[in-house]
Amino acid sequence: MQLYGRESNDTTVDKKKLTIDQSGFTIAHDLAASAQRSVAAILFAICPMPRKTISPGTRKKLEQAAAKVMKNAHAPYSNFHVGAAILLTNGKIFSGCNVENASYGMTNCAERTAIFSAVARLGPRIEIQAVAVANDHGVACSPCGACRQVIYEFGPDATIFFQGAKGPKRAQIAELLPEGFRLQ
Ligand code: THU
Repeated sequence: MQLYGRESNDTTVDKKKLTIDQSGFTIAHDLAASAQRSVAAILFAICPMPRKTISPGTRKKLEQAAAKVMKNAHAPYSNFHVGAAILLTNGKIFSGCNVENASYGMTNCAERTAIFSAVARLGPRIEIQAVAVANDHGVACSPCGACRQVIYEFGPDATIFFQGAKGPKRAQIAELLPEGFRLQ
């Protein structure tokens, strides 16, 4: 058998050498990989990943989608029609409206309708990049507390476009929901 460039019938020594060499390679490899991870962690701490910017055109598209779906709202109790559109990091847009119920507490807000329909279509591994909210009264209307928590679950870095007290507003979900809660 040819091992390490010499003939040998005694393979036990050579096998041992082979094992030592292999484990030596593994240790060196592990060290290199962990050093790489450390460098990546330090770089990330110094300069975190830049947030993906949302172009004015994309924002407009999202706001238009929210205004369009608002017309489908089922809001006979509040007569307040809301539409929401979410932009995922994969570029897809999903929209939803508020759906009220005679048992008022069963009402689903537009934001959650949009998010749930994205999950129903694509599964839970979605990441929300942005949310736009529209209402038919043209009044201030930011996502309610429950929706902020649901947005945070799928987009802790999401940008929210909504009608503020002084006109159109933009905010990060972490500003609207400080100390947001997530299990993963
Ligand atoms: N609503 C939403 O759908 N989204 C919001 O951001 C605020 C409120 C709905 C819930 C309810 O159907 C109606 O507006 C009045 O609160």
